[in-house]
Amino acid sequence: MRILVTGGLGYIGSHTVAELHEAGHDVVIMDNLSNSLKSVLEALETMCGRSFPFYEADITRIDDLTAIMKAEKNIDGIIHFAAKKSVPESLQMPVTYYENNILGLINVMRIIKDYSIPYFVFSSSCTVYGEPSKVPVTEATPTTSSPSPYGSSKLWAELMIQEFTRLTPGIKSVLLRYFNPVGAHESGKIGELPRGVPGNLMPFITQTAGGWREKLSVFGQDYSTPDGTCIRDFIHVVDLAEAHVAAIDFAASNDISTEIFNVGTGNGHSVLEVIQSFEKVTGLDLNYAFVDRRPGDVEQIWADTTKVTDVLGWKPKYSLDDMSRTAWEWQIKLGDKSA
Ligand code: NAD
Ligand code: WQD
Repeated sequence: MRILVTGGLGYIGSHTVAELHEAGHDVVIMDNLSNSLKSVLEALETMCGRSFPFYEADITRIDDLTAIMKAEKNIDGIIHFAAKKSVPESLQMPVTYYENNILGLINVMRIIKDYSIPYFVFSSSCTVYGEPSKVPVTEATPTTSSPSPYGSSKLWAELMIQEFTRLTPGIKSVLLRYFNPVGAHESGKIGELPRGVPGNLMPFITQTAGGWREKLSVFGQDYSTPDGTCIRDFIHVVDLAEAHVAAIDFAASNDISTEIFNVGTGNGHSVLEVIQSFEKVTGLDLNYAFVDRRPGDVEQIWADTTKVTDVLGWKPKYSLDDMSRTAWEWQIKLGDKSA
């Protein structure tokens, strides 16, 4: 198939481009480079041994998307990663988040309809579950209104896509609810490129270990979890990327409207377990200290992966130690460029 990947130079998008290529799919990439670098395209081309059509373009501008569709024929599917993704930033600039994540999605849906593109895969998030009353969460666990414009944008996007797909004959959609993606490609050529001070745990750990941050603050030690720290379902980014290949193949070969899948490992790991894994695989002592809880943090969440395994036939291959190792190898390669 020929797949247009929006946000294809970003963290998850770039790994997915590599896996799509590996699986024999043809790829067209678009990205406005607001949170990525053009050098990621060169890295992908080196890894894949081919060039990719690339458009520096913005999903909030319908003319940009129309120009791509006019230039690129026979697009079979769109995998839509392009979005802004910071919860705290979204609290500071809600309208920017609505514009990028909702207006951008509306434009993508307009293109899907006008050009009759049959297969659509969307990046959703476990954030739609809020603070679940029971773990692990299944796809049937109720979604909740989110305390942040970022989370709201994912919830509203899911609803819009389901309705749009139901009302538009010939379109099949897959919503992937990612848990916590971490790690980097084994080649060391692509990985996460956090800007400024990382808000997420793993890049903060690697930057601290690398000496670019003095100390990791562990937010909260008094949660009702076995070691008192929060629990998340960390998933290796390459496993997550492979789930997109499975999703687009599934849409192409099944009579569906919209299907939703949790994409996690099914294992919950605490913040302290991540630190211990990192220290074990790197042999380093991480400088960390317990501080107060971070407002808005969910205590514990991990995925029930029965559906994604049974229906998509997808299973994660990487362990938590692999996630720590590849994240560290990538940090060493990046050096202070990410700090
Ligand atoms: P990322 O920021 O690395 O990638 C997003 C890419 O989209 C970037 O390259 C950015 O330049 C591009 N982009 C942003 N706005 C754009 C626009 N208006 N037009 C064109 N390109 C634009 O983020 P990521 O971690 O790869 O996340 C990809 C998707 O997965 C996002 O939709 C995000 O909300 C979702 N998601 C991410 C996580 C996570 O923890 N990383 C978890 C759940 C869901
Ligand atoms: C994980 C755990 C922190 C940093 C966020 C978004 C969510 C999703 C994934 C997109 C928490 C703790 C962290 C630090 C710490 N993104 N932590 N010290 O909060 O699960 O989810 O990213 O959809 O929407 O909210 O991920 O990596 O920020 O935190 O102790 O310096 O690590 O408190 O318990 P989170 P995270």
